[in-house]
Amino acid sequence: MIRTHNCGELDAKAFSEEVCLSGWIASRRDHGEIIFMDLRDKHGITQLVFDPDRSKDAHHKAHGLRNEYCVRVKGKVSMRPEGTVNPKITTGEIEVEVKGIEVLSESDTTPFEVKDDIAVAEELRLKYRYLDLRRAPMQEKLRVKHKAYKYITNFLDGEGFISVETPMLTKSTPEGARDYIVPSRIQQGHFYALPQSPQIFKQLLMVAGIEKYFQIVRCFRDEDLRADRQPEFTQLDMEMSFVEQDDVLDVCERMFKGLFAETLGREIEIPFRRMDHAEAISRYGSDKPDTRFEVFLHDLTRAVEESEFKVFRNVCSSGGKVMALAAPGYGDISRKEIDELTSFVGGYGAKGLAYFKVEEDGLLSPIAKFFSPDTLRLFRETTGAKPGDMIFMVADSREVACEALGALRLSIGHKKGLIDEDAFNFLWVVDFPLFRFNRDEQRWVSEHHPFTGFREEDLDFLEKGEFSKVRSLSYDLVLNGSEIGSGSIRIHRRDLQQKVFGALGLGREECERKFGFLLEAFKYGPPPHGGIAFGMDRIIMLFTKDQSIREVIPFPKTQKGTCPLTGAPSEVDKGQLRELGIRF
Ligand code: AMO
Ligand code: AMP
Repeated sequence: MIRTHNCGELDAKAFSEEVCLSGWIASRRDHGEIIFMDLRDKHGITQLVFDPDRSKDAHHKAHGLRNEYCVRVKGKVSMRPEGTVNPKITTGEIEVEVKGIEVLSESDTTPFEVKDDIAVAEELRLKYRYLDLRRAPMQEKLRVKHKAYKYITNFLDGEGFISVETPMLTKSTPEGARDYIVPSRIQQGHFYALPQSPQIFKQLLMVAGIEKYFQIVRCFRDEDLRADRQPEFTQLDMEMSFVEQDDVLDVCERMFKGLFAETLGREIEIPFRRMDHAEAISRYGSDKPDTRFEVFLHDLTRAVEESEFKVFRNVCSSGGKVMALAAPGYGDISRKEIDELTSFVGGYGAKGLAYFKVEEDGLLSPIAKFFSPDTLRLFRETTGAKPGDMIFMVADSREVACEALGALRLSIGHKKGLIDEDAFNFLWVVDFPLFRFNRDEQRWVSEHHPFTGFREEDLDFLEKGEFSKVRSLSYDLVLNGSEIGSGSIRIHRRDLQQKVFGALGLGREECERKFGFLLEAFKYGPPPHGGIAFGMDRIIMLFTKDQSIREVIPFPKTQKGTCPLTGAPSEVDKGQLRELGIRF
């Protein structure tokens, strides 16, 4: 027998039982004659005692054992002497007096210690990920993810959803990132794309009459990586027929309620708060507001449009905005800190950062002289600033002013500890515009993707080319300021879909080439439908309070898109390339 028990289950009830355990040597302590070791498996840790008086042979062998050797031991459960009990673990009252030990396999000295807390470069952890994953906190993360997937699968099954696969070798899906492409050997010069999401296929499944689809599915996007982005990541992808927005939001809310109760033991309140996109931008400066703390942006455009301060006046007269926020406790920051904040907002395109120190009897600022006492009072009243605070303002286009202050808002929240780290604040952001003008490319692009539905009453705007006024039927789910999901009611009429493609500047031929198969499917009675996709890695990362998505992905890529464990991406044989008809 390899084992009678695991390393996490023996307690006082097993006293004097003969047991057999298998696992890894987690640590060893030589106490003169007697040697103690911790034996670890995925269930926990059991203390082993090697006493020469009980077994000379086992004690002798123990001298040759090193950390991370994989061993099997036989012995008797005994109670730990008083004062050595560890109440924190199940096995803390007992130890196993080893009578026989067998080395199942030896281990080289590991590049880092396999223990809960390590301070090791991430690159090294990723290179030896199998050792990193041996650590209990990492195993716990994998279990949390597994439990979440299990709950979701059961819940959606109960709601009448079925899981359907969609292809990995497919055609490009327009999710806004670059595609990973795969060359075809049989059709040289032709390429598959790895899916950025199953978007088009799930819509085809609705045409196919599946009605309620879900899939926990890998997606691939060749984009610049960040802490919350990986080139391959996992979506919980869903689509439903014959539904309206509220039906989709409702099923998601109930799912999250159960998911939090089941995996975290946390009660969350549903329905979630909803906020329209315009409010998210103007009050929080973000389309994914962190609602865990109450610092808000305020619009001071009206108050300053006729002021003496030229910068503000010019911005106002050219249609821009002057936005402000009150930073609590920032009143006495240094000149140097102000410069740092100015360059911080500069990173978001702001051309300056005006500041007003709030004192008992007024506002102090190099530019205070340009404003009347009434206007200065209005600054203070509108922003709700108190003595000791600093009012910051950015004058720019609405987008830049809001985004820059939104970023400043977040940094203030973190720096001043205003954020309740234990909270889970869910928020639906709704009523996004359908299109966004991309200044770099000087063209209209989809705020989400080209299949997003829009309000019927806005069709007129679409037809007249007033694209900025078309409101979409889309919704994002935000948790603690992180976008964890995004979806929409889709366009299901061929003529409307073609109009949207037209607005995006896709010619007839290009549409036909890229999405002809979808338009073709829409000839055959497509039902009204809508859905959503959640970023599962992001959700789990919020569960485990990790700062990086890589912590909850078993084998992630580095920021440079590499896998230190396998060395991917790597060169391939010349022969392989020749077969594919590829030459560099
Ligand atoms: P979207 O592109 O918004 O929508 O993606 C849905 C969710 O997936 C997560 N996500 C990512 N997570 C990790 N790394 C990435 N690179 C990454 N990119 C996205 C986010 C995001 O909210 N087909 C549509 C959904 C729909 O309309 O139904 C889609 O993919 O949490
Ligand atoms: P200047 O007139 O450039 O010396 O700027 C005077 C003050 O106004 C400085 O504190 C600048 O940071 C601030 N300022 C300049 N441009 C802007 C702007 N677009 N938005 C907010 N503040 C600005």
